[in-house]
Amino acid sequence: MNTLPSTETVVHIRGVGAYLPERIMHNDELASMVDTTDEWIRSRTGIEQRHLVAVGQLTADLAAQAAQAALDDAGLTVADMDALVLATTTPDMIFPSTASMVQARLGGKEFPAWDIQAVCSGFVYGLAQVEGMMRAGMFRRVLLIGAESMSRIVDWSDRNTCVLFGDGAGAVVLEAGENDGCGLMRSVLHCDGSYRELLMAEHAMRGQPPHTDRQTVMDMDAAGVSAIQMRGNEVFRVAVTKLGEVVNEVMAANGVQKSDIDWLVPHQANIRILQATAKKLNLPQERMVVTVARHANTSAASVPLALHDLYQRGELKRGQLLLLEAFAGGFAWGANMLRWSRD
Ligand code: ACO
Repeated sequence: MNTLPSTETVVHIRGVGAYLPERIMHNDELASMVDTTDEWIRSRTGIEQRHLVAVGQLTADLAAQAAQAALDDAGLTVADMDALVLATTTPDMIFPSTASMVQARLGGKEFPAWDIQAVCSGFVYGLAQVEGMMRAGMFRRVLLIGAESMSRIVDWSDRNTCVLFGDGAGAVVLEAGENDGCGLMRSVLHCDGSYRELLMAEHAMRGQPPHTDRQTVMDMDAAGVSAIQMRGNEVFRVAVTKLGEVVNEVMAANGVQKSDIDWLVPHQANIRILQATAKKLNLPQERMVVTVARHANTSAASVPLALHDLYQRGELKRGQLLLLEAFAGGFAWGANMLRWSRD
């Protein structure tokens, strides 16, 4: 349903949902696979366990479960939606989009659906993009999902990366409404592609155009390489710096002070990165949502999963100020700010 643009339009979160696959892998199980220990993983990352997809369980399956939960929470159905946007690093196919597969699973018809790729920042990018489109009057209600099967692109023999990731999905129902003092505020987004080699998963396409001399791609194709490669300590240093900058930037963009923030809902990569950001904000640790111990790094799903965690604890109050932030491969990073709209 198209609506007329209005300068008074504000986008509200009306429903929140989440889904985590049943299988849980504890650190001890990883220690039986690679040269690591539960103590090393906990002390360096804060991770204790992660959820993993079952054989044959797709990113679209996780996303559809989270999306249905968000619709139920909002008291709406897929027929009420005007668009569906899915942030993922692990699409089930090159095409069609995983968003279109989720639309079909939910029984939606005709409304636009598309994927966003900004790795772990996908949900933060998605909120900014969708909010702008809704404020421009394109849509009244949108399903925004972050869903990942990171276990499918992890090299399970590489202790540097395999201990870090998990699978899951989180979703929100966004609704354009009146300016009642709550809802999404200004977002800030950044990308610097010159950092590509510090964190990436190269993707091997089958086949080559005629007369190609791109030997690297051909070699990769032969090897079937698509696993995550990361120079962790270099990523760590840039992440802490850039997140410190972006939280200041989003506060300035919205004219708020550190002391105004009620909840920090960060991307869950590493407890030490989370703590560094909270410290820069002078925020007590209990005002920061931490799910990394149970979920590990679920990339684009981690921010909506953290939001859902906070929401279901029942501690969110209407009008409270939330700061969402993420840092990702690319590097792509950003932050959103909102006043919670639900009672
Ligand atoms: N178990 C035991 N030892 C390990 C493991 C492991 N699982 N992994 C690495 N080590 C070893 C290394 O080999 C190294 O050994 P060495 O000193 O003999 O060479 C030693 O531990 C220290 O390695 P560092 O990489 O320096 O360890 P660090 O303290 O930096 O922790 C970590 C590594 C956890 C990866 C950290 O750097 C980190 O969290 N980085 C940021 C990750 C991140 O934010 N990613 C962005 C989002 S992800 C995305 O966008 C898809």
